[in-house]
Parts: sequence; structure tokens; C-alpha cells
Amino acid sequence: MILKENKIQTKSYFIETYGCQMNVYDSELVASFLEKSGYQSTSDYNSADVIFLNTCSIRDNAENTVHRKLENLAYLKKQNPKMMIGVLGCMAQNLKNELMESKPYVDVILGPDSYRKIPEILESRNKTNNHFVDTKLSKFEIYEDLFPTRKSGVNAWVSIMRGCDKFCTFCIVPFTRGRERSRTIDSIVKEVEACIEQGFIEITLLGQNVNSFRTPDGEFPELLDAVSKVKGLKRLRYTSPHPRDIDDHLLNVMKKNKNICNHIHLPLQAGSDRILKRMNRTYSKKEFLDLVIKIKKYLPDCSITTDIIVGFPGETEEEFSDTLDVAEKVIFDNSFMFKYSPRPGTKAAGYTDQVDEEVKQNRLERYIALQKILTLKNNKLKIGKTFEVLVEKESKKSANQWAGRLDGNMWVVFDKTNEKIKDLVKVRILDTKGITLFGERV
Ligand code: SAH
Ligand code: SF4
Ligand code: F3S
Repeated sequence: MILKENKIQTKSYFIETYGCQMNVYDSELVASFLEKSGYQSTSDYNSADVIFLNTCSIRDNAENTVHRKLENLAYLKKQNPKMMIGVLGCMAQNLKNELMESKPYVDVILGPDSYRKIPEILESRNKTNNHFVDTKLSKFEIYEDLFPTRKSGVNAWVSIMRGCDKFCTFCIVPFTRGRERSRTIDSIVKEVEACIEQGFIEITLLGQNVNSFRTPDGEFPELLDAVSKVKGLKRLRYTSPHPRDIDDHLLNVMKKNKNICNHIHLPLQAGSDRILKRMNRTYSKKEFLDLVIKIKKYLPDCSITTDIIVGFPGETEEEFSDTLDVAEKVIFDNSFMFKYSPRPGTKAAGYTDQVDEEVKQNRLERYIALQKILTLKNNKLKIGKTFEVLVEKESKKSANQWAGRLDGNMWVVFDKTNEKIKDLVKVRILDTKGITLFGERV
């Protein structure tokens, strides 16, 4: 093979990924473009020919981490001026001008819809040292014909759609990722089949709003049903749905197909009707609570997790207590919890009644304390019961124990017997500490 003969000249790449699973998926796509161009992955970024940071703009601290990383890279670039440094993803989209001005050593800036340009950029880079910037958002780009380069493992993430049209007033995603576009059911099923062939046994379908998935051949429930039928697929998950769009059809498909996990990540954001309205979330506290009742009617053991923002502009103490109230009523299994971070350009960033940092911090700590109690409460109810567990990896604490997940997405640690990674086994829960369960094989 030509590659082998040229081995000494083979160039290397290093990609660092920030942000959500969409970015992880996109980094795998980017890796496949680099590999097609003859580049090989390296774990040592000091010696890489190409360093790409796939970035996130969702909150201030996500951007700050990348700025700090780029300052480190400036030093590397001085030592090795031939190294190519690229900023990809949501910050590239959002902060193109600022990056070009303040970080002139960044050679490449590519938004999420521009990754097809990579081979061309690498090619021209061999001839010139020009900068390359492309952050045009596309109404059509879904990278349909491409399957990403994945490392082996238990779970593979498969992107089913790109973009978001919901425009929650706090959120930068509709600006960084552009309009909603869905892939075809056929190509998603093919990608899932390829993943199973490669040895993955769990699939998580990904999108900013999976239930806005729309194609001439069907919507999200039809897709979920079709994917769940793929031979060899032991577990199917998806994230995230929008609470407004969860309907009977979707819940029926989940109930009917045993390999679709009993877990819904249902981002609440806030519990007060006035705040929800200001956030443009399009549901009320009561509608959210009614939805949870409906979910439990179809799927009595369904675990429910959520995303929470505290300290949204104008949020009063009483309105914050509505968030705590919903959490207590639903008994969320887990929450991702965030302090509101104003994103320039979004509607909420312009609201004049921003909440003080100390108040946000205090509310965050109180929500975290409540969530700890709720997680423990849910987990204690599991003691003495037996669950199906997917063996995923060795426990961090002991080589004699496995760590695996229940279909509700909680981790359980148990002593090894004769099972191996990727087996589905029955485990009886004996104890719980923090967010982890402990059990024994039955
Ligand atoms: N599409 C998903 C969420 C994607 S962003 C959904 O609608 O559920 C992931 C989470 O980040 C959001 O659910 C929200 O809780 C949080 N988030 C988004 N923008 C934020 C901001 N400006 N400040 C703090 N948290 C934010
Ligand atoms: Fe952001 Fe709202 Fe879209 Fe989620 S639904 S990505 S929170 S705009
Ligand atoms: Fe961040 Fe972009 Fe994802 S802003 S959370 S990487 S869609």
C-alpha cells in the first residue's frame, strides 16, 4: 500500500473535543476526513502536524477553557511554525472575528457545516500558509454519505439531525448550529448496522431536539422503531427530546420494543411558568408534570433525568422554588445543573434584570443538594431488586469488579464472575452510595 511505503512521511493529527455529544460525533467525522487525506491520529499533540480544537459556546466557562488552551498552543506554534492549528465547531461559528483578531496563529476556522472543506485545506496547506475561514451555515449539510471513524467500544453515538429551530432565549445553539435538518431513516439504519458489525451493541441517537426529526419516510417514533429492529442491537438510547414533543406514539414505540431503554432525558430548565415563558420553552409547569405522569403510565419504571438552569434573568426566590418543587414531585434520577450564562446575541442576554452571581451560586448549591437526596431516594428503592445490566468496563476501584449500566442509565458495580464486557446480565442491587449502585450477579 502507498501509505505503508510513505510511512516516514505520514502526517499526524490531534483533535480535542469540548461540549456536547454532537461535537464528539462531529470530531469522529472530522477524523474520517483527515484519515482519508492520509493523516494518522496521535495522542501526543506536541508532535502533531495538525491540531484541531472542536469547541463549544454553550456557557462562558466552555469558551474560557478553549481560550486558555489556545494560549498554550501559541507557544507550541512558535516552536513549530509548520504546525496547523484549527478551531472548529460552535466557537468558530460564534467568535470568528474575535478569533481572527486576537489569535492570528490560528490557521483554520471552520463552523460545524464546513468540514467537507478539510481535505482541500490540507492539500492547499502543502503549498501555501494561508489562513482558511469558513463558517457558512447550510440548510442542507447532514454529512449523509459519511460514516465517522469510531474507536471500538460498547456504545456508539449516531447523529440523526443537525441544528435547532427552537430558539430558547438563553441558548446559542440555533446560532452556532443553524437550522434543523434530518438525515434519512435509511442512512441512519445503515450506519447503525455498520456500528453493530464493528462490535458496538448499544446505540444512542443524537440531536439537539430528536423529536423534531422529520423526513418524508417518517418522524422520530418511526425512526426509533426502525433502528430498534436492527439485528444485534442490545440497547437503544436517545438524547435529547423536547418536552413539548413527547407524544403517545413515541411512548408506545418505547413500550413495545424491549431494547429501547427505559430512560428519558427531559430537560425542564425551570419550574416557574413566567420563567419558562421568558425562556420560550413552550410548556408550563403543569404540562411538564402531566407529561411525567403520562410517561410513567406507559413506562412505569422509566428513569427521568433533566437539565436545569438556575438564575435565569428575573428569576425570583419564589420562582426558583418552583424549580425545586418540580424536581421533588418528579423525583428526577439525575440532573445536569447550570448557572445561567448570558450568551451575547441571544435574547435573554439583553434582559436588564440579570441575577447576581452569588444568588446564582447559592441556588445552584441548593439544587445540587436536593438532587443528591432525590438520586439517593430513587436508588434506595432499587435495593433488593434485580435488574438487567450491560457490562461496560472494569470498575475504577478494583480489577475484580465490573461497572455496568441499568437501562435507566445508573451505574452499578459488582464482583466479576464468568461474564465479559458487552454481556447483558442480571444483577441484584445490594447498596448505594453517591450516584453509584452496588450489586451481585444472580
Ligand atoms: N437541545 C437540548 C439542550 C442542549 S444544551 C435541549 O433543548 O434540551 C444543554 C443544556 O445546556 C441545556 O439543556 C441547558 O440546560 C444548558 N444551557 C444552554 N444554554 C445555557 C446558558 N446560556 N446558560 C446556562 N446553561 C445553558
Ligand atoms: Fe438550545 Fe432550546 Fe434548541 Fe435545546 S431546544 S438546543 S436549549 S434552543
Ligand atoms: Fe456546545 Fe455547540 Fe454542543 S455550543 S453544547 S458544542 S451544540
